[in-house]
Amino acid sequence: MIKKPKGTYDVYGDYGQKYIFLENMLKVLMDKYNYQYIRTPIFEATEVFVRGIGEETDIVNKETYTFQDRGERSMTLRPEGTAAIARAYIENKLENSFYAPLKTWYYGPMFRYERPQSGRFREFYQFGVEVIKGESPLIDAEVISIPVNFFKILGLKGVKVKINTLGDHESRKNYQTALIEYLEKNKNNLSKESKIRLTKNPLRVLDSKEEVDQPIIKDAPKMSDYLTENSQLHYQELKQYLNKLEIEYYEDVKLVRGLDYYTHTVFEIEADIKGFGSQNVLCGGGRYDGLISLLDGPETKGVGFAMGMERLITALDFEEINILENNLEVYIIPLSSNQLKEAYRLANDLRMNGFNVDIDLMERNLKNNFKYSEKLKAKIIIIVGEEELKNHELTVKLNQSKEEFKVNQDYIISFLEEKLGELDVEV
Ligand code: HAM
Repeated sequence: MIKKPKGTYDVYGDYGQKYIFLENMLKVLMDKYNYQYIRTPIFEATEVFVRGIGEETDIVNKETYTFQDRGERSMTLRPEGTAAIARAYIENKLENSFYAPLKTWYYGPMFRYERPQSGRFREFYQFGVEVIKGESPLIDAEVISIPVNFFKILGLKGVKVKINTLGDHESRKNYQTALIEYLEKNKNNLSKESKIRLTKNPLRVLDSKEEVDQPIIKDAPKMSDYLTENSQLHYQELKQYLNKLEIEYYEDVKLVRGLDYYTHTVFEIEADIKGFGSQNVLCGGGRYDGLISLLDGPETKGVGFAMGMERLITALDFEEINILENNLEVYIIPLSSNQLKEAYRLANDLRMNGFNVDIDLMERNLKNNFKYSEKLKAKIIIIVGEEELKNHELTVKLNQSKEEFKVNQDYIISFLEEKLGELDVEV
């Protein structure tokens, strides 16, 4: 048997329904904020990610799916959306669009060659937003508010918002110098991994989970002592906006994130749920004021976030939040094959009139049809028999109360509307 590649999964059944439900919800949510959809290719020139995310990041160093195409160009399956959207912004000259800021959202598969484990896949789905052009910390606050509000609407309670600032370019440079100096002094006691990071990507040492690194990290210089006035102000204002929006947050000076493009605000939202496992970051993001110019575009600021759909579904399952909808309104049973054509015409009419309809396509007997309609959780059953057709009638049965009605075919639509309306009220 041929099997799916390691770290990937098939979507079907209830899991698929959950995906679609969340996808639809996110589309509706984005209308509330007036964001517009953006889509970039699944693969890009490798350079987009090497330059955009950073050559020394784990993502670019170890995790990309990179291949030579038949024209011998180096291509990479996108590991994330931000760098690709920055590329699209530049290439399509979106700086000339009247939108300011340009507020975009995206949804789709991302690819990282990581060690698969619970909550970590090689192909996974991200929903994300990128807001390009504006520099106000209010935009950072808006971006943070999107997942916060989304989780609130879903009823997800165990979430923890962590924020930090990496400052502007100048703050970061000064801090990096002080950090390298400090880490060099303590180099002998650092873990092997951190020694490597020290030379390649010193900020990431702060992110180390290794036991031996912890005391060193604890006493390391703090970013907050190296922030320029402008960076301090940006961070303070962000916190004021979050307070105003009543978003509870925790400041975490060790939060540096795994991509190089960040400046100022960085944030993550963790699942704070017992037993959830180590891959508990539901979403992460931040500001990237230097990214677009780094990719040869105009000096342009941006901020965004992305959320892993798989981890979100796991969090909903952990909190037993049922997002499976019961959408089937009508199930039609033709009593015999003689009524199949008439019954199918009825199904078609009802669908065109806005009802969600299923019909027996397997010629089951009545008993099995009833059993099947139970499993499908159909709200109403319509039986189309010889007697019924002769009298220009239909037998309509409400699945919950088991009440039965004979309804003239000419009035079936208003009858169904009325009964489904009553059922909705009861819920
Ligand atoms: P990221 O932190 O690399 O950020 O990924 C965002 C989210 O994607 C994570 O919090 C997690 O939920 C999910 N995720 C990442 N890797 C995996 C994986 N291997 N399996 C399952 N889920 C995963 C970014 O990608 C940035 N582009 C976010 C951003 C947008 N920053 C600014 N704008």
